[in-house]
Order: sequence, then structure tokens, then C-alpha cells
Amino acid sequence: MHTKQDLLSLGNLTATELTDLLTLATALKQEWKVGGNAPVLKGKVLGMVFTKPSLRTRVSFEMGMHHLGGHALYIAPDEIQMGKRESIPDVARVLSRYVDGIMARVFAHADVVTLAQYSRVPVINGLSDYTHPCQGLADLLTIIEHKGTVKGVTIAYLGDANNVANSLALGGTLLGAHVRIGSPYGYSLRENVAHLAGQFAAASGGSLTQVVDPHEAVHGADVIYTDTWTSMGQESQAVQRALVFPPYQVNSNLVRLAQPDAVIMHCLPAHRGQEITDEVADSPHSVLWDQAENRMHAQKAVLVKLLT
Ligand code: CP
Ligand code: NVA
Repeated sequence: MHTKQDLLSLGNLTATELTDLLTLATALKQEWKVGGNAPVLKGKVLGMVFTKPSLRTRVSFEMGMHHLGGHALYIAPDEIQMGKRESIPDVARVLSRYVDGIMARVFAHADVVTLAQYSRVPVINGLSDYTHPCQGLADLLTIIEHKGTVKGVTIAYLGDANNVANSLALGGTLLGAHVRIGSPYGYSLRENVAHLAGQFAAASGGSLTQVVDPHEAVHGADVIYTDTWTSMGQESQAVQRALVFPPYQVNSNLVRLAQPDAVIMHCLPAHRGQEITDEVADSPHSVLWDQAENRMHAQKAVLVKLLT
């Protein structure tokens, strides 16, 4: 029996581990497209703990388990009331006596770390206030599909350097991308992420650049990425944020500054008319729906790696 592994942040992976996951995801996607996946997770159950709403994470994990012959158990925010009705260590201790893996969507990243610490079974971060590694994996898979590789690709992320940006910056620099973050003062990457991504870039031949000017960020980019200006849990700051972020909206004027064949990405849900316009989200440059589909394929690779 091997020791339990978790997926809490792409920053915990080596470039080889990340590449292996993406290669497996591509193979599983291909297998599914030509007739279905082998039931390698037959008899396995994934417990899915949510403290926030979700469309993609819930459905893609549930369908991923189904395709692989396993089962997913959805546990709604009101059910466990992690840390309120019962302590997080106790939730981890109990839940991991029932299921073969835990996927958790939490507010504080420390909560998913605590779950992993006290769980006997692998824990997958389904979004915390710090990282969104499953999204990062799907993003890299989508970039590979549309650009052939991640190495040397210029990825411009515009807006709030949040959980999604953290995972994109860490995963992108691990694989040799040139990651540019364009965000207002006070909303750039947190220090530790910028430091780690800088180290990854130095080893991979990629780079990490942070700028305030959105035009500079997208100039000549191969990929333009954006996300909501107000993440779940930050609702009280929404009014203030709505004043700061409009210059970072991904609209046609901004897209014109990127490469003619640039692709547009967004983890979704999109707030059309705010961080992205309809015109861009629905343009031929948009790969939003491939990206959403790839959540399922990328996560299947994680499930196979951690649960078998
Ligand atoms: N991108 C993403 O995680 O979507 P959900 O919040 O709908 O799961
Ligand atoms: N940054 C967003 C991503 C939602 C999938 C949030 O945390 O709400």
C-alpha cells in the first residue's frame, strides 16, 4: 500500500508530475470520446464536500466518477457545516472511514489542509480562497489543445490575482509559460505565489511578469484569461471592486492587442458585461466551453492517480 497523496495546490507538484497528469488526462479524454472509459474506479466512492455553490466542479467530478465506474456523493453546505456543527479534524476522521477520496470546496485554504491532515484518504482541493488546482489543470489541458504546448506560450491574466490566477501562474510557470498578470494596485499576486512562480519560471525557461497596465499585459499574448472581480466570500467588497476593475475588462479593444490567433479563457461563471463582454465570450477566439469540459477530463486523471 502506498502512502496517501492529496492535491491541494499545483505548487506542490513537480513539472514531471504535472506533465504526467496532463498526459493521462489527454488519454482519458480520448478513451472516453471513442467509446467510454475503463471502469478503473469500480466500487470507489468520492465524498464531495461543498461549503460554496458550484456547477462545474460538482457536475464534472460526479460525471468523472460515473465514467470511471465509481460513485460520487454530494454533500451540501448545510449538511456537514464543517467547523460549526463538527470540527474539521472530526469531519475528516469520520468521512474518511466511509469514502475512498474526499473533494472539498472551502473558504479558508487552511480548512482543506486540515482535512487532508486528518483524513485517511486522499483529499482534492475543489477551490479554496488560495488555489483552484483542478481549474489550473483544465486550463493547461485547454492551452495544450489549442496551442500545442504550454512551454513558451504567453498567458495574460487580467483582473483580480485570485485563487484561479494563483493556480494558473504556478502551473503555467512550472511548464515554461510566460505568465503575465495585469492587475490594479493592491490586487496583484500574493508574495509567496509570485516567489514560487518565479522559481518555477527560472527552472523551466518561462517567466512571471506583473504589470498594472492592462494593455501592456495583453500585448502580443497567445492566451487572455480573466475571472470574476469578486470571488465567493468577498461579496462585502463588491462595490469597491466594481470601481477598480473596469479598465481590466476583456473586451474587443483589448483582444485586438493580443496575437491574431489568441484564445480567450475564463474559469466561469462569467459576469458578462463586467470582466468579459458578450462579444468576446461568444467570439471565435473563445475556448470557454472546451475549458469547462476539460475540468472533467483533467479531474479524471487526478482521480485515477490518487484513488487507484
Ligand atoms: N470554475 C468553477 O469552479 O466553476 P464552479 O464554481 O461552477 O464549480
Ligand atoms: N475566483 C472565483 C472562482 C469561481 C470558480 C471564486 O473563488 O469565486
